[in-house]
Amino acid sequence: MNPEYDEAFIIDGGISLNGNVNINGSKNATLCAIAASLLTEETVILHNVPNISDVENFNHILSSLGVVINSDDDSLILQADNIQTMISEDLSIKLRASILVLGPLLARFGKVSCFMPGGDQIGSRPIDIHLDGLVKLGAKLENVNNQIVATSSKLKGNRIVFDYPSVLATVNILFAASLSSGNTIIENVATEPEVVFLIDMLNSMGAKISGAGSQTLDIQGVEGLHGTEISIIPDRIEAGTMMACIAATQGTGTLHNINLGHMAAIVEKFRDAGINVKEHKESLEIDASSGVLPVNVQSVPYPGFPTDLQAPIAVMLTQADGLSIVHERVFDNRLLYINAINNMGADIKIEKQKIFIKGPKKLSGATIEALDVRAGAAAIVAGLIANGRTLINNINHIDRGYSTIDRQLIGLGAKIHRSKSGAKKCL
Ligand code: UD1
Repeated sequence: MNPEYDEAFIIDGGISLNGNVNINGSKNATLCAIAASLLTEETVILHNVPNISDVENFNHILSSLGVVINSDDDSLILQADNIQTMISEDLSIKLRASILVLGPLLARFGKVSCFMPGGDQIGSRPIDIHLDGLVKLGAKLENVNNQIVATSSKLKGNRIVFDYPSVLATVNILFAASLSSGNTIIENVATEPEVVFLIDMLNSMGAKISGAGSQTLDIQGVEGLHGTEISIIPDRIEAGTMMACIAATQGTGTLHNINLGHMAAIVEKFRDAGINVKEHKESLEIDASSGVLPVNVQSVPYPGFPTDLQAPIAVMLTQADGLSIVHERVFDNRLLYINAINNMGADIKIEKQKIFIKGPKKLSGATIEALDVRAGAAAIVAGLIANGRTLINNINHIDRGYSTIDRQLIGLGAKIHRSKSGAKKCL
């Protein structure tokens, strides 16, 4: 993409954020729910859908299959009654979640073909756990000119033990097992709230899945699934990003429309960092007016601290007085954003998958790139802290996962605006 024409965020930083912010529906839960609509010819209605480009791109994929999609405000109505089973390469590479068509289409039609999925460049992102699981259920896989072609007669339940609790592999195999004959047991599955939400959704469509939230799932296959209507859970990653923005500027604020049950590790880590967090039923008050303390963070699968918040919290910790160590343990290439933050004045050293952050450091405004959706969020945290003006290029990455981040931050008093003509032209 030519950065000359990409949109940019322009932030005049150094302002303490204060106020109220509403949290949108979860990006990752929405993508799983959209894929689930492929399992039935009946109508699936989703509410509280975030207006992000990942959803738009996934909808393009489903439309290309023949799914009829209507939207109304923050609702989506999907019907997959007359669809085909092949996804083109240019659509497959648009986002990682494109892999989620494999399980439903194979289980429903006995065939599917797609290409390796795209998505953030945050490390090697193989799909072996997805494919091994489908083979265990009886799929035949071929690689035809880089195209993954999966075929099967009726899938049959089996016992599957995952090498790693992959989030989307858990979802994909759940899709396939729900329409397989007999019983499937999957061990070492992901327990993320988005997976639990998806299980609730599938059960509301007639699936028989037990064990949600535990590391073993028991699926009794059914002949067919029916339509459903469901509201997407709040985005815990967007909520954590807002907490990092507020805390990094020593601000105070209240987050509304959140599910605290999904945020224990996040809330605990902010508390460890000396930030006062008060929990209410569906909201949370955060007070970082006394500053931020150094903490160590490890990003791990749920219920631990999420990798998707590793970058935003690391940038927040540049403001803590002392040494913080952040260890990225999920993806092997998710620390590329550090150089730009150091160029703004931070003192962060990288050693393999660990970063050592010495603070507090004053940051100064600069021109930086949003390298991926969460590195983009970290760039925003840096811009809010920094004195002077920060220009963030390539914000199409941020738009993939944050629907209203500029408006949310403006509501908290930040000076941020979107430049349609691109950062280079605003200098
Ligand atoms: C999902 C989320 C992403 C989040 C990630 C981890 C969506 C759309 N994306 O991605 O935001 O950062 O969970 O919480 O929901 N792996 C394999 N083989 C596989 C699959 C994964 O080795 O077949 C490895 C990956 O390379 C990575 C680790 O497992 O190192 C975790 O990946 P996974 O949980 O699968 O992430 P996603 O489901 O792709």
